[in-house]
Amino acid sequence: MRVICHLVEDRLLDSDDLLGAVSDAVAQLTGSWALVVLDARTGRMVAAAHRSPLLAARSAAGIFLASDISAIGDWVDEFHILADGDVVEVTNDLVWTNSGIPAVVPAPIPRPPRPHFSLTVEADDHMAAEIREQPEAAARLLEEVGGRIATGELWNDLGLPRFDRMRVVACGTSLNAGEVIGSALSRLGGLGHSSVVASEAAGSVVEPGTLTVMISQSGETADVLRALEEGPQGSPVLALVNNVHSTLGRKVDAVLSCAAGPEIGVAATKTFVCQVIVGTGLVISALVASGRMDVARAHRLVNDLYLIPEQLAEAAAAARALLPPLVEEVRGAKGFLFLGRGAGVAYAAEGALKLKEITYRWAEAYPAGELKHGPLALVEEGTPVIVIDDDDHRLAGNIAEVRARGGRIITIGRPGSSVEVPLSLAAPCGPLAAVVPLQMLALGLAVELGFDADKPRNLAKSVTVD
Ligand code: G6P
Repeated sequence: MRVICHLVEDRLLDSDDLLGAVSDAVAQLTGSWALVVLDARTGRMVAAAHRSPLLAARSAAGIFLASDISAIGDWVDEFHILADGDVVEVTNDLVWTNSGIPAVVPAPIPRPPRPHFSLTVEADDHMAAEIREQPEAAARLLEEVGGRIATGELWNDLGLPRFDRMRVVACGTSLNAGEVIGSALSRLGGLGHSSVVASEAAGSVVEPGTLTVMISQSGETADVLRALEEGPQGSPVLALVNNVHSTLGRKVDAVLSCAAGPEIGVAATKTFVCQVIVGTGLVISALVASGRMDVARAHRLVNDLYLIPEQLAEAAAAARALLPPLVEEVRGAKGFLFLGRGAGVAYAAEGALKLKEITYRWAEAYPAGELKHGPLALVEEGTPVIVIDDDDHRLAGNIAEVRARGGRIITIGRPGSSVEVPLSLAAPCGPLAAVVPLQMLALGLAVELGFDADKPRNLAKSVTVD
């Protein structure tokens, strides 16, 4: 095995053409990579990428190379994406080649808008700002797509064929959003759905008539890109991303933006909310367009979607007022359980994921009915058990089971809950507003424990390795 710089160095023994040397060297590589080679003797610099994101940009501030536009958005207005096989020399300009042959610089792509929020003076973090921004992000998104849902346009404009079932492929928070979206398709339209963890998608069978929906806020997650390469087996693929120019966005049959704006905190918050809203809107739109839902019902559901920004704001206000003493109470807990039923299960999973990501505490999410089949054994005196209480009458029994073992029940939802948030069993996205206190619980605890919520240990915003 040889390291890449030695491959380049070998070529430079015969010539001082760095661009040619890097082209020759990368032709010998396998796998996925994005690299920049700097010749320390001359200061020349050459960049190359293969199955890994890399972009180049020029501005008055200089020439930039980065894997994500958000890293350099303060200094550039547009950027160029390196395709597989591109090798680019950075001089006063960009000298573009592909497979050793001079190539035209690809068309520039305008930089997406900058964040809409500003950080406040107190020890604030991006995640807090992004949670605060959720009502505004949801309202912006609905303004953009709301009028095209009940008409069927949101679906029809994608140019995809009619489908009979949906298969969601995603990771982490995006997978949880996909579960909400898939269950909306089943609940509202009676069509089947499945959710597949992207890293395990290769073995799954895709039935005829399936629409594959790949969800990824970054659009660069290697596991999702591999699942795309390994084959959706004839199923058309729709990408739901926050960046339509991402690798995933460029490689699929159709792309839909969740239009959340830049998200800096590693733990996804506003992108989750926006994925759920636009994905549910898409489901309603597809049902109308295929004649499976009447327009009047679609309009009623869209009206419910328009209530979301206000519900998110109310949930945030309730959480701000009620969570601090609860956070204080559970700060010493080593493990947490999150329970829900029906549409609440995916939100319980999201609550547990947020807590794990930024507080480094164990957190398990379960459909509440599963409690007695295993996780109840974990409950001891004081174990925090967070319940998404969307008024499903079966929850009372589960709550009683936990209380009887001394568990500390924290309910989120209907009136009388530890944190009351506006939820409705009939809402098209299920108990979406519950996610706000769940995010704030995780953030509050992370801050209390002295952790940097924006940069959790061992995790990255864009996971470009499989
Ligand atoms: C990482 C992050 C998770 C995120 C997941 C999927 O694992 O730590 O928070 O949900 O990637 O990211 P994506 O960009 O595909 O939505």
